[in-house]
Order: sequence, then structure tokens, then C-alpha cells
Amino acid sequence: MKNPFVTKGYAGPAYFCDRVKETEDLVKMLTNENNMALISPRRIGKTDLIHHCFAQPEIKDAYYTFIIDIYATNSLADFVEVFGRAIFEELKPLGKKVWEGFYHTIKSVQQQISFDINGNPVWGIGIGNYINPTTTLEEIFTYLGSADKPCLVAIDEFQKITEYPDGENVEAALRTHIQRCPNATFLFCGSKRHLMTEIFLSPLRPFYQSVVTMGLDAISKDKYSEFAVRQFAMYDKILDADVVEQVYQRFDGVTAYLQRMMNVLFMNTPKGEHCTVDMIEEAIDFIINLNSEHYETLFSQMSEKQRVTFLAIAMEGRAKSISSSQFVRKYRLNSSSSVVSAVRGLLEKDFITFEHNEYYVYDYFFPIWLRKNGYIN
Ligand SMILES: Nc1ncnc2c1ncn2[C@@H]1O[C@H](COP(=O)(O)OP(=O)(O)O)[C@@H](O)[C@H]1O
Ligand SMILES: [Mg+2]
Repeated sequence: MKNPFVTKGYAGPAYFCDRVKETEDLVKMLTNENNMALISPRRIGKTDLIHHCFAQPEIKDAYYTFIIDIYATNSLADFVEVFGRAIFEELKPLGKKVWEGFYHTIKSVQQQISFDINGNPVWGIGIGNYINPTTTLEEIFTYLGSADKPCLVAIDEFQKITEYPDGENVEAALRTHIQRCPNATFLFCGSKRHLMTEIFLSPLRPFYQSVVTMGLDAISKDKYSEFAVRQFAMYDKILDADVVEQVYQRFDGVTAYLQRMMNVLFMNTPKGEHCTVDMIEEAIDFIINLNSEHYETLFSQMSEKQRVTFLAIAMEGRAKSISSSQFVRKYRLNSSSSVVSAVRGLLEKDFITFEHNEYYVYDYFFPIWLRKNGYIN
């Protein structure tokens, strides 16, 4: 590894910071057949934590593990496509005996699976081929229920199912299947707290009280600092303690931004030399310049109403009562009703986030970019 601050997802325990307690808890709960929900804002480290847990020997050696990310799905057909493909791709490298079990079970789409010249199966099912996704879902669960090992299934960005056209029915069907499938244990991850809470904690919903809920906080400053200093030292570089202090402060300890910053700071520190606080601004500028075009595009995708509301929230930092007359007046917005509708659009597109009754821009570098380009002061 050229740079020990990985920003592209899980790269093994050597590049993974802390989460010792969380890993222990999750592994223990899952291997004791508890379905779990893991909830935190995006970029704190849920997805990496799933990979890390599933890589532990207690799990890796005893289970089939499947991780599916349903962020980009919009219907049950999409869901079964992503689910089926994930199972298939996981089993394929384990040999014919293993993948055949699944192949023979998914009869409704079996003829869509082709074979390459070496006789290896290829998942070629297009989304239009799910004539009856309910049947395919049943078959997937039949497989999970009869696999020769217990199964662990992580469904990432699970809140997405609330946006399916028949979301309520999908939830109910999934819940029923899961209840009847003791051979599989489920981990539901999600970043939209209000939606996840509704799914699991509302008495009217199928998943009510069916999981143990776990939140994920930022990695503690001490733990991250220890990790970062160690990573620098491994490559014969010295990280000054106050650098992490300042970066942590500035990015609220959000793992993705810490890693992003440290990746650049590491890159900019020559071997044998110190990384000092006066290198921080340069690192931020570097990242923002790299993303400039992206921010330009996002900004141009917003409607005028959304743009002014977005700028107001960016300026406020953590915006509480966005529909109050005080907020509307302070930022010379149109009316509270136009703010409310703009906020809804911004939330849907993930430009902003809502956590603990506060709205804020989801990408921490975006407001810095706005400021540097004179959109806000
Ligand atoms: N414990 C960790 N140590 C090092 N990097 C991490 C850790 N957890 C997450 N990351 C990194 O932070 C970024 C965001 O993590 P991710 O798991 O995708 O967050 P989430 O799923 O909560 O949105 C990724 O680049 C990931 O590699
Ligand atoms: Mg994630």
C-alpha cells in the first residue's frame, strides 16, 4: 500500500482504525442469531464495519456472508437482482458444488444464467427479466434456508425500501421470509435515522421490534490519533499531535473526512519529515480543487429555491428551525413554506442531512468550497 490512509473502502485490519468494541459486540450478537440494525449518519464507517466484522474468523470460517447495497434500487425487482447477484458472486469462487445449490433453487430466473467457455456461470439477468420478483425473492430465501452453512446477510442503505412504490408490501414480505428462515441472520444498515427508526420502532410497521438497534459514533479522537501517528511512523514519517487535533475538530471526527485529509497530508509529507498544522489548509485546498467540478455540477442541479436555502443552511452550519420566521428573515428567504419544500428536495438528493433536529450540508468540503468561491461569507 503506497498510502496507509485508505479512502476507497475496507482494505483489511492493518488499515482499519479501532472499532474493537463495536466489532466484538456486532460479531457476538450476529453469531447468536440476533437480527441487528446499525444506524449512523453517512461516512461514519458502517459499511467498512460490516466488512471488518464479516472478515473476523468466527464469521468468515463458519458462515456464508452476503453484503448488498440497495442505495441505487427502486423496486422489488431491483432488490432481488442485487440480492441474487450478490449471493451468486459470493458463491461462485467457492466452486461448482457450492454455487450449484443456489443455481438449482432460483428456477424463475435460472434460464437467464449463461455459461462461459470454461463452464463458469455468468449472472446475466437484466432487470427487465424479473417477471415475478416475488417468486424470485421466495427462491432466494429457500436457498438461504437450506444452504449447507448458516448465512449472514447485510443489507446496506436499507431505508431505501421505504421509497419503493409498494414499499409497505416489500417490508411485510421480507419480514415474513426472515421470520421463517432461521438459517440466516440479518444486519440492516442505514444512514437516514428518521426512516430507519420508523421501520424498526413504529408499532404499525412489519419490522417493529424485530431487531436490536445499534448506533455508530465517530471514532474517538484519541483512538484515531493513535492510529494516524502509527500509520505515519510505519512509513518513517512523523505526524505532529496537534494536526489530528485540528483536523478532528474541523470535521467533527467524521471518519471519511479524517481519512481523506490524512491521505493527502501523508502524501505531502516527505519521508523522515514532520507533518505540521500549517500543512492543513493546503490539504483542504487540494481536495476542494479536485472536487471543484463536482460541486459546480451539484450546485447547478439545484433549483433557485433550493440553492438559496442550501446557501442559508451552509452559512448557518447547523440549522435548527429552518421554517421559523427568524431563519427566513435572517437569510432573506422567500417564505417558510418555500424553505420547507426546498429542504425536502435537498434531503431527497442527499445534499443535506437531518440529524438530531439539525440540518447541515452532508459533504463537509462543500461549504468550504462555497466560501472560497464567494457564494457565502
Ligand atoms: N475504522 C476505520 N478505519 C479507517 N477508515 C475507515 C474506518 N471506517 C470507515 N473508514 C473509511 O471512511 C470512509 C467512510 O466509511 P463507510 O464505511 O463508507 O461509511 P458509511 O457506510 O457509514 O457511510 C470510507 O472511505 C472508509 O474506508
Ligand atoms: Mg455505507
